[in-house]
Amino acid sequence: PADGWEATADLVVVGTGVAGLTAALRARELGLSVLVVTKAEVTDSNTRWAQGGVAVVDVATGDSIAGHVADTLAAGGGLCEEDVVRAIVAGGPAAVARLRARGTTFDRAADGGLARTREGGHSAFRVIHAGGDATGVEVERALVADVDRKRVPVLERHVAVDTLRTPSGGVGGLTLLDPDGARCVVRARAVLLATGGFGQLYQATSNPEIATGDGLALALRAGAAAADLEFVQFHPTVLYTRGALGRCPLVTEAVRGEGAVLVDAAGQRVMAGVHPSADLAPRDVVSAAITRRLAAAGTDHVYLDATGIDGFARRFPTVHAACARVDVDPTREPIPVTPAAHFACGGVATSPEGRTGVPGLYAAGEVARTGLHGANRLASNSLLEGLVVGERAAEAVAMDLAAGELAPLTRVTPSDAVVAPVADRSLVQRLMSRHAAIGRDTDGLSSAASRIAAARRERALDSHRAVEDAALTLLADALLLSAAERTESRGCHVRTDFSERDDVHWQRSVRVRLDATGA
Ligand code: SIN
Repeated sequence: PADGWEATADLVVVGTGVAGLTAALRARELGLSVLVVTKAEVTDSNTRWAQGGVAVVDVATGDSIAGHVADTLAAGGGLCEEDVVRAIVAGGPAAVARLRARGTTFDRAADGGLARTREGGHSAFRVIHAGGDATGVEVERALVADVDRKRVPVLERHVAVDTLRTPSGGVGGLTLLDPDGARCVVRARAVLLATGGFGQLYQATSNPEIATGDGLALALRAGAAAADLEFVQFHPTVLYTRGALGRCPLVTEAVRGEGAVLVDAAGQRVMAGVHPSADLAPRDVVSAAITRRLAAAGTDHVYLDATGIDGFARRFPTVHAACARVDVDPTREPIPVTPAAHFACGGVATSPEGRTGVPGLYAAGEVARTGLHGANRLASNSLLEGLVVGERAAEAVAMDLAAGELAPLTRVTPSDAVVAPVADRSLVQRLMSRHAAIGRDTDGLSSAASRIAAARRERALDSHRAVEDAALTLLADALLLSAAERTESRGCHVRTDFSERDDVHWQRSVRVRLDATGA
């Protein structure tokens, strides 16, 4: 029962990043009634913070879909699903063309074509960007403007708490909390989660404060499976400021793509002899190498020497401004940097069209695990995935509706108030940073799990903060369980007690369902 308003729609989209807004726009074009909800403001999302760009092939530059597929598979450490990689990468050029038709402007090269940079793990210059290093700002601006133009309704400051269930176990809408904590109900034929990742599970992250994994927790509670949760990607270079806590400004990998190198306090190259691609090795390799160097030197940051890049302030205005705020001049001195939690390679297990296996529930973007990323996402493949899968998920909803596979609106009942286990957020963040970052072992993982279990208390999800804390608590449990189970090192999952990759036992994903988390 609602104590606020009730509404209906064919599709309710949760989240306003690239996947959510692309899906909403496509669903509207297909004639569906759509409501978009976000717990923040429409422009708030992880997308807005993306710097590097969108990885997309232009065959006219000598690049190839096969090359992009091969790079994605290599970065993914043997766990990508090749057919999914091929489908999403091949869908990139058309998806980017539609994004440009929606108003996004990318930077141009001197010859008039799109400017393309390189990032770690890419064998070609294929990453398109906007505003130098402000790609996400431009993508988000254009999508929000299009949503306004097409009058797609967006409900801000409403957090999704729970799904409405159909008699056959499907999903038929959502309960939400309004800004004052009143429960509101949206009955919908389909729910699409596009809520992004969960960087806030860690003390230091490139993600904004809203990245608390709410959609993933909601999907687990609705009976969906999650997979690959142990693969949390740490970006090698966020700007180091004292303590490196909370949201840390990203120093885009494109800075290394354009020639910067990682050095330690003594000026020694960090990546020399570590990987044939040195500073442009895949991200998991670079983050792990920095972490080893930090441990050996007993320090908490290294440096990125970008002094050789001409026109730094023009090419990287966002990074330049962040450095200026802490009195670092990248044109004259190396930038202090450290790794921080950046991207959830795993998530709600979905098809490449966003279907979760629970009728009526779809997911796209970082919240979803399609099989594109495997054990380590290739740089700038995430905006690509949001664009391609966001669009296809909307098409899947339209198709499932037309095929009569989604329950009618009259048959859903709002759930009772939700009660869930919640542990103190700062305790969870501390334990995850200490025991479930780069370099994990059995003892640490199990000690973190038991300390979180001891700190958990059942509480009503009657406020935005409670919803977020419950999500972080549930995801900590699920991630610790997955990380303990995977007794090998692969991609972003680095175990100090099982330091080798073990293809005999672990060439497969760990899947989690709620009843298996013990939560
Ligand atoms: C970056 O610009 O380094 C981040 C891009 C990404 O995470 O894909």
